[in-house]
Amino acid sequence: MGFSEVLRSATWNDHQSAEDDSYLKSLMAGQLNPEAYGEMVAQHYFAYLALDGASKALAGHPVAGDFVFPELYREEALVRDLTTVFGPRWADRIEPSKPTRTLVARINQVADWPGGYIAHHYTRYLGDLSGGQFIRMELQKIYGYQRGGGVDFYFFDIGSLPRFKEEYRRRLDALDLDEAEQQRIIRETKLAYQLNTEVLADLGRYARAAA
Ligand code: HEM
Repeated sequence: MGFSEVLRSATWNDHQSAEDDSYLKSLMAGQLNPEAYGEMVAQHYFAYLALDGASKALAGHPVAGDFVFPELYREEALVRDLTTVFGPRWADRIEPSKPTRTLVARINQVADWPGGYIAHHYTRYLGDLSGGQFIRMELQKIYGYQRGGGVDFYFFDIGSLPRFKEEYRRRLDALDLDEAEQQRIIRETKLAYQLNTEVLADLGRYARAAA
């Protein structure tokens, strides 16, 4: 079994907990107003500033460099989405939640360890390229957003998404990892899922307010 498969199966339970989140459920059920959706966009904005910042610092790194993809950077797309939802003064309107600050601190803390960076990058980006596409289609139906602002975060200019994911998994398989390092990366990926799930759980207050 390649490492991509090992990582996926070792963390799939953690994925299920993330997917079962109640904020996401309310969002997908069309129960939230655009501002309540925008609160998640805002948290993404802070998390991806950190993640993409870590990527930029690792460009050319002999190991982590294989997981640096400038075409995936999300800042510009998120700014368009925030402008669409909150208007031009979006920056005055948003701030990182406590769980987002914890996630950002962890991303920064492990940014000099290739395995740690890869764990966080994998958890976010492979998710955005997978379930994220389903989420986008639902959001487009619910809010009527078109490409250009609203759900641009989920649009990637990388050609075929399945082919990109296949290449990503090939790169995971090509990592030269001993058993101990594999286990460390699996542990960090589980933590990445947990921290991302805590961000969603905190957003649950908007779901409860809407109920
Ligand atoms: C409504 C919520 C979600 C749905 C419906 C969903 C659905 C899916 C599906 C169907 C796949 C498999 C795609 C494939 O095999 O190519 C997938 C993969 C993935 N998802 Fe999600 N997901 C959701 C939320 C999340 C969240 C919140 C995260 C992370 C915070 C996440 C991270 C991932 C990752 C990392 C993968 C790739 C696993 C792998 O193949 O190695 N997902 N998701």
